[in-house]
Amino acid sequence: MPDLKDKVALITGAASGIGRASALRMAGDGAKVMCADLDVAGAEATANVINQEGGDALGCELNVTDPDAVKATIERTAETFGKLNVIFNNAGIGGGTWDQTIAVNLSGVYYGLFHGAQHLANNGGGSIINTASVAGLVGLVGPSSMLQSLDQDIEMAEGAGSYIAAKHGVSGLTKQFAITFGQRGVRVNAIAPGYIETPMTENLRSLPDGPEFLKGLHPLGRLGQPEEIASAAAFLASDDASFITGVVLPVDGGYTAR
Ligand SMILES: NC(=O)c1ccc[n+]([C@@H]2O[C@H](COP(=O)([O-])OP(=O)(O)OC[C@H]3O[C@@H](n4cnc5c(N)ncnc54)[C@H](O)[C@@H]3O)[C@@H](O)[C@H]2O)c1
Repeated sequence: MPDLKDKVALITGAASGIGRASALRMAGDGAKVMCADLDVAGAEATANVINQEGGDALGCELNVTDPDAVKATIERTAETFGKLNVIFNNAGIGGGTWDQTIAVNLSGVYYGLFHGAQHLANNGGGSIINTASVAGLVGLVGPSSMLQSLDQDIEMAEGAGSYIAAKHGVSGLTKQFAITFGQRGVRVNAIAPGYIETPMTENLRSLPDGPEFLKGLHPLGRLGQPEEIASAAAFLASDDASFITGVVLPVDGGYTAR
């Protein structure tokens, strides 16, 4: 298990799914955690669970589409816990319009990288992790129930288009920031999850042909659990990953192996 004792982590999207599981996991590995989310009640609920289990966490409201708020939250985390070592740019949406998806899934990550890398570089280095997706590496396919008419194809093209563009952008930003800040002790990596059982995939999972279709995409024959992404995030956050930077790590049950 990675050791995150003496580390302080800021996690966005920490109210739900992958962010929540990662906050709980990193706290379990010894990190102090700032749980940030648009859903402040959810972020506080995650922090409460950590504190009840003897950890040290705080929940806060953050809209990652606001660059000043992202910068302020980075500074607040360092002030609250005395330092900051790990930033997990994880907040994201599915099913939004082009503008919404680019604002949250791409610009939101960029602001975390832009302000986060500078902060870490000025304070002895650290680890940044971004949540990309298999959609940051390859194109997406839909279940046949979603692809029966041209209108449905167009809807898929629009929805998948913004998500693909944002997540491919996250993969590129990960490599660029790793190169730019490498010599300043800042490691930058991304995780590319396959389909994970979180509220984000609920709609797709509830289609009549959804579960079978989704399972069939992954050679392991199942969807992933948020805890399986959290364990990769904890590893990349830790000193066990000290020579790993610029990587977009698929954690996808084999989705991108074919
Ligand atoms: N679930 C999957 O199958 C899957 C697969 C690949 C990648 N991802 C990515 O993983 C990340 C987490 O997704 P999840 O599955 O845990 O979804 P989720 O819906 O369970 O959690 C997303 C969280 O992000 C928060 N959020 C949304 N917009 C925000 C904003 N503007 N500012 C701050 N917080 C905001 C939400 O309130 C929510 O708590 C996303 O980036 C998503 O694109 C998910």
